Amino acid sequence: MKKIGLITSGGDCPGLNACIRAVVRTANYYGIQTVGFIRGFKGLIENDYTILDYKSVAGILQRGGTILLTAREPRFKDYEFRKKAYENIKSLDIDALFVIGGNGSFQGAYLLQKEFGLNVIGIPKTIDNDIFGTQYAIGFDTAVNNAMESIDKIKDTTMSHERIFIVEVMGRDSGFIALEVGMATGAEITLIPEYPLPLHVIEEKILKAKKMEKGFAIIVLAEGVASAKELAEILNERLKDKDVGEIRYQVLGYIQRGGSPTAYDRIMASKFGVFAVEKYMEGEKNFMVAFEDGKILSKPLEISFGKIRVPNIKEYEINNILSL
Ligand code: F6P
Repeated sequence: MKKIGLITSGGDCPGLNACIRAVVRTANYYGIQTVGFIRGFKGLIENDYTILDYKSVAGILQRGGTILLTAREPRFKDYEFRKKAYENIKSLDIDALFVIGGNGSFQGAYLLQKEFGLNVIGIPKTIDNDIFGTQYAIGFDTAVNNAMESIDKIKDTTMSHERIFIVEVMGRDSGFIALEVGMATGAEITLIPEYPLPLHVIEEKILKAKKMEKGFAIIVLAEGVASAKELAEILNERLKDKDVGEIRYQVLGYIQRGGSPTAYDRIMASKFGVFAVEKYMEGEKNFMVAFEDGKILSKPLEISFGKIRVPNIKEYEINNILSL
């Protein structure tokens, strides 16, 4: 019986389990067995695995996190450990390794292809949605919805107390979450690293909100720009004589990354998983699943290396047009 290996690697996100289920069930459908390694690359090195069958992925579609667990594995930087991982994979007679991960994980897996000729297939996930080469990565939609629900609640207090409120969202070096959350919550100001806004413009917008008797403003801040604490301190100091009240802040943090995936993430994760296995069945090698202009397609794994995706300036302009 043909066998494939499967890992989830890097930060967890909602939709990983839906994708695991899709890979396992599609493989099962075509008579292939799935070996799930535990804790990503760590499981490959330590030969820690479990056989995943149709039944073992029952009831996980709606669950956040990953049943395979995930971890950062610095040892994978060393050739010796990669060799060990490859030997473990080969001893199990595994034909290809499926990696549900981000571009860092894809790069790690790519080394197994380059050094040992292993067939490696990447399925993109990250709440940041910044993997180069694909317009969608599993987890993003849920993160945006999680953040939106939290900000809607914060907005009640912000409006009732006529405050200025900074909400920091995740995204590492990119602004996709902030951009969509800003639009979905009607944020007065959205700050993202790709299109920086000078401090004096932020101040002008805050004063404008106050002057137009709106009385309140939500600033959605991508973590890649600054910390909310830092920005609140700076703005409180600079606006202390302007009668805007105390500027408060909230860091949303891991609330964005957990919980049950949205319908969109469940569906995308399922489609990505089925597509990956079917392309592999057709004989395609060393590719990543990508989403482009409404279509799922395959691209060389290397396309995602060394750069991240940048939001379209038009998306950013929409936020400006609709806010202050
Ligand atoms: O890449 C996903 C992400 O949640 C980023 O938005 C965030 O900056 C980072 O991971 C946090 O990673 P960790 O949990 O490993 O500190």
